[in-house]
Amino acid sequence: MIIEPRMRGFICLTAHPDGCEQNIKNQIEYIKSKGAINGAKKVLVIGASTGFGLASRISSAFGSNAATIGVFFEKPPTEGRTASPGWYNSAAFEKEAHKAGLYAKSINGDAFSNEIKKQTLDLIKADLGQVDLIIYSLASPVRMHPTTGILHRSVLKPIGGTFTNKTVDFHSGKVSEISIEPSSGDDIENTVAVMGGEDWKMWIDALKAENLLAPGATTVAYSYIGPSLTEAVYRKGTIGRAKDDLEATAFTITDSLADIDGKAYVSVNKALVTQASSAIPVIPLYISLLYKIMKEEGIHEGCIEQIQRLYADRLFSGKEIPTDEKGRIRVDDWEMRPDVQEKIAKLWQEATTENLADLGDLEGYRSDFHNLFGFGFAGVDYKAEANEMVGVESIA
Ligand SMILES: NC(=O)c1ccc[n+]([C@@H]2O[C@H](COP(=O)([O-])OP(=O)(O)OC[C@H]3O[C@@H](n4cnc5c(N)ncnc54)[C@H](O)[C@@H]3O)[C@@H](O)[C@H]2O)c1
Repeated sequence: MIIEPRMRGFICLTAHPDGCEQNIKNQIEYIKSKGAINGAKKVLVIGASTGFGLASRISSAFGSNAATIGVFFEKPPTEGRTASPGWYNSAAFEKEAHKAGLYAKSINGDAFSNEIKKQTLDLIKADLGQVDLIIYSLASPVRMHPTTGILHRSVLKPIGGTFTNKTVDFHSGKVSEISIEPSSGDDIENTVAVMGGEDWKMWIDALKAENLLAPGATTVAYSYIGPSLTEAVYRKGTIGRAKDDLEATAFTITDSLADIDGKAYVSVNKALVTQASSAIPVIPLYISLLYKIMKEEGIHEGCIEQIQRLYADRLFSGKEIPTDEKGRIRVDDWEMRPDVQEKIAKLWQEATTENLADLGDLEGYRSDFHNLFGFGFAGVDYKAEANEMVGVESIA
């Protein structure tokens, strides 16, 4: 079929298998171009199909020759209906990994469930024996709690008062003011239940109980802080409470791994266009200004550049891992540079529908958004028939 983008708000209903494959190939090339990383060799990535988790899987496999197991929740294709992009990404990743002689298997299902955890544990037991790196990179709006059966929904709301600020519809470029009502009822608890640290700890506990963690195993989850501009809706909002909980869980996990000399870290990453971040109000306007400044300064990075730097300069540099006063690894250091943030704060005041295309990098935002779904890649013939029925080679 001929596959075109079909946009609905901050989602695209179609994905292009050849474009997703090109995206994977580009990321692999980038990792290879940066040279070998003396990193972990048996890696489990939870949330491995898009964004930071996908970049982590690619960095481990093609930077460190690692065997990888990827867990994700994606929609396979049916005749005439494309798969979700993470499916095609994973298909292309496995194809390239297998071509390179690397072990790569994937599990598609709800990572929050006991069933998927058990399936993953069984696969590690059968194929790898133990893992030495576990990347936790889930971004989900809902979580069915495996013991209570309660379906928790996360919300992106300020706490304590209505938040009013500028935002942009990145498709039309229209800058407008939005007001977001504060959280109420169980909003905070629900958001913490979905995006906090409980599930991360459940994974590590389950792996440890079955003796599947290698001595000195490391686990890393991803977090975000961001500037004061977005604080009310992000770091001091409901999602921020979940990130506080995730960050605190790193210490609990490290304590629980003392006997195997294991460690849990949170890495604070940069704001980037992913399916998760495009759903958060105000963030697209911030990102379009951030991209503009960071590109001008020559310090712009995508997910793959961020994770390459996390691995090469922080986690596996051979030196002590640098952390901030709260024990977090920071690869948002360039985003948070005072000179970068001062410029954004100024542009933020000036941004209007009429001038945003010049002031900000709206084009860069849109292009990244299209790329998420496999559209807009050089070298792909989008007018040609594409086969939507692509399978992932080793999937359970
Ligand atoms: N995007 C950003 O700007 C940004 C910045 C810093 C940190 N982070 C953090 O990075 C992490 C990953 O976010 P992302 O932006 O890469 O998101 P993403 O949407 O690109 O990826 C989410 C991944 O989780 C998987 N997933 C979702 N629900 C699942 C489920 N129930 N079971 C199994 N897999 C499931 C998806 O299949 C996908 O692989 C999040 O913790 C996020 O807060 C994101």
